[in-house]
Amino acid sequence: MADEGWVDVGAAAELARQPVQQLMLGRTRVALSFRDGKFGAISGVCNHAGGPLGHGKLDGDYVVCPWHYWKFHYQTGKGEPGYEEDAVPGHEVRVENGRVLVRSTPVSKRSKKPHAPHPLARPVVASTGAIRVLGISTTAMTQGQERYSTSDDLLKSALAHAAAPLGCETQLVRLNDLKFRACEGFYSKSARACTWPCSITQMDPADQLDQVYEGLVHWADVILVATPIRWGAASSLYFKMVERMNCIQNQETIAGKSLLHNKVAGFIITGGQDNVQAVAGQMLGFFAEIGCQYPQYPYIAHSRGWSAEDMENNTRYVQDSRLLHEGAGALAGRCVDMAVMMRAGAVAEAPRARGGRKAQELDTHAQLQRSGADPAAAAE
Ligand code: FES
Repeated sequence: MADEGWVDVGAAAELARQPVQQLMLGRTRVALSFRDGKFGAISGVCNHAGGPLGHGKLDGDYVVCPWHYWKFHYQTGKGEPGYEEDAVPGHEVRVENGRVLVRSTPVSKRSKKPHAPHPLARPVVASTGAIRVLGISTTAMTQGQERYSTSDDLLKSALAHAAAPLGCETQLVRLNDLKFRACEGFYSKSARACTWPCSITQMDPADQLDQVYEGLVHWADVILVATPIRWGAASSLYFKMVERMNCIQNQETIAGKSLLHNKVAGFIITGGQDNVQAVAGQMLGFFAEIGCQYPQYPYIAHSRGWSAEDMENNTRYVQDSRLLHEGAGALAGRCVDMAVMMRAGAVAEAPRARGGRKAQELDTHAQLQRSGADPAAAAE
């Protein structure tokens, strides 16, 4: 029932049962809240990245966006103290004869407080000059009690060879030295909730994975990742890092944008026991999905086999192996050669289907648009 823009949205007793819920006024999403006996209605579309405020929670007088936790007053739509300029439209609400009526035309407008973009959000500029080689060490060890690491040692040999004789700029990032949060599954809320730069990086200035993003996206031509084998897989720090790289891959999927273009990757894999090819397979698959290229023979590896438990001999073997250290340098050389070739004959970005690397329209995108739940499709 509609009367001068007032829309009957349901029985008050029923709607009062949920602190926050999403309603549709035609194609307009509204977040209806109930607190201390009063209803409030504000736009259901968050100012930040379009998150569904009607699926959020109440924190005092504020609706908390479920995506990245921005807050808006449940009746006025104004941002939390200090962010009042960040306001979503508010709607009038009244209760008559046990029914809740919401006015479809908002009483206040959306306004956005200017937010400086995160430094990582700047455009990616192709490098010139010396090829840049980024080494990423993923081995975990006791802080302050350094020990010999076979994967680290070979990575250092690879970087040393890249620096001289190849004349590259080099940089080493050790994940063990960085404090960074595990991926908290923003993508699981919605593809659009997983943002570039990473939602955690934008929200938490203490999170240090920005150093990896900076090196990977804005600095490196070549990325060398070194890992030990732990229980037949790459190290836990490796997986903690790559889970946080969902935001890089997701730009392909939701925005058709390659953050990694003309980047070459190579891998160093070492372990006392086996499973080299499975570890390499995962690393190759992952870095291919985020847009990296590979030279011929893109990894080197060492393992002494299933029955080797004498790890002190394994570390000595790697330390003393001229072939392994030369092999690490040769891997760096193959990656650098490939980067030089790619820089000289850079392949132009070709148009892709919206799904990017998936080479097809995303099912979810089409389905959401049909259902009207797609924030991009929802009008206010
Ligand atoms: S806080 Fe609402 S979309 Fe990010």
